Amino acid sequence: MTQSTDRKSSTLPSFPGTSFIGQEEEQAVLEVLRRGELFRYHGNKEHPSKCDLLEQHFAKHTGASHVLAVTSGTAALICALQGIGVGPGDEVIVPAYTWLATAAAVLAVNGIPIVAEVDESLTLDPADVEAKITPYTKAIIVVHMRGAPSQMDELLAITKRHGLKLIEDTAQANGGSYRGRRLGALGDAGCFSLQLSKIITAGEGGILITSDDNVWKRALMFHDVPGGERQGITKDEILWGINFRMPELLAAVALAQLGKLESILTNLRARKQMLKGGMEEVAQRKGITFRAIPDAEGDTGATLIFFAPDAAQADQIARKLQEANIGAGLMYHPDRSDYHVYAHWLPVMEQRTWTEAGGPWRWAQRDIQYHKEMCPRSLGLLGRAINMNIDPLMSNDEMEELIEGVNQVLDQI
Ligand SMILES: Cc1ncc(COP(=O)(O)O)c(C=O)c1O
Repeated sequence: MTQSTDRKSSTLPSFPGTSFIGQEEEQAVLEVLRRGELFRYHGNKEHPSKCDLLEQHFAKHTGASHVLAVTSGTAALICALQGIGVGPGDEVIVPAYTWLATAAAVLAVNGIPIVAEVDESLTLDPADVEAKITPYTKAIIVVHMRGAPSQMDELLAITKRHGLKLIEDTAQANGGSYRGRRLGALGDAGCFSLQLSKIITAGEGGILITSDDNVWKRALMFHDVPGGERQGITKDEILWGINFRMPELLAAVALAQLGKLESILTNLRARKQMLKGGMEEVAQRKGITFRAIPDAEGDTGATLIFFAPDAAQADQIARKLQEANIGAGLMYHPDRSDYHVYAHWLPVMEQRTWTEAGGPWRWAQRDIQYHKEMCPRSLGLLGRAINMNIDPLMSNDEMEELIEGVNQVLDQI
């Protein structure tokens, strides 16, 4: 397996998947180009399409019965929402901490996003989810943020108790697991992103998984107009769809990357453990605590997040780490826009609409109001949180240098 040639000389940010791009991806792309088989349904039938292969390998990887390759994580979310039947006025609970796309996908199918608190795991707080359920709630989107699993036992029990659907937004946690099962495969549907910053990447792209035949049929029809017919859905049954089909070139890269996922995860986990272990003593002295991980064995290791005693100290630590050339960032500041935190989702918070006649909120079945302070615990936690992305290719010497640098900063606080 090869890795990108000289990552240190690159000015581009290095993410787990991008650090591992090499000959396998290059050969796979050339194969598609040389065969002239750029479109999934047009080519020499002796060669299975790259999209087909990706779906087959991803089914093995996750244990899901059905896999659908699409154009982005957002497309996967929209197909999943169509798949479970979310429509105008249906409420869908989303976490206060997730990329805006999770809430925007709900709006795209005319649903109403309802924002719930995250807890020390920085994933959905089951108690607040339950408090936010109304007669109009249809589903919950659980987001496994920054590579770590959510509290799936509790969240699945809530959906069962209330007869709701559960979608797992696994965009940032490909390869993670919960009690031995791959993330994305525990709910009614799981959605993955292959965008540049993700654990494996094709620059862009998305994947939907489900083991529910009906969700699968509906998602399939929506992602490709004749796609349903190709899979044997009759003309009488078929619904209109749009085009979220994955291109072959993209699938070729994704497939090569999927082959590297386990070694990327091994590298990430080892380095995260080393960093956390190396910081523990200073952290304890300074009142710093680490993010709670619901099932530590299922953590991808993609990030290490810790909480400073207060927001001012967190800001100071993040600043000093950056001055020391250490990749770290404060996770929420009221004055610094970041679409990962609901308080900065201005288009949603202010219910901005694409037409003067109104947007999805016109179908809301009760008065919906959002405001920036509506999830204070999430803002409090994120305002004290510092995120460090783990570099899967750091050498032991570089890791030791990193730990020394972090500890020096923490010791000054
Ligand atoms: C949590 C989360 N959900 C959804 C998405 C959307 O994925 P994409 O950018 O592939 O549409 C992202 C990606 O940035 C994400 O981080």
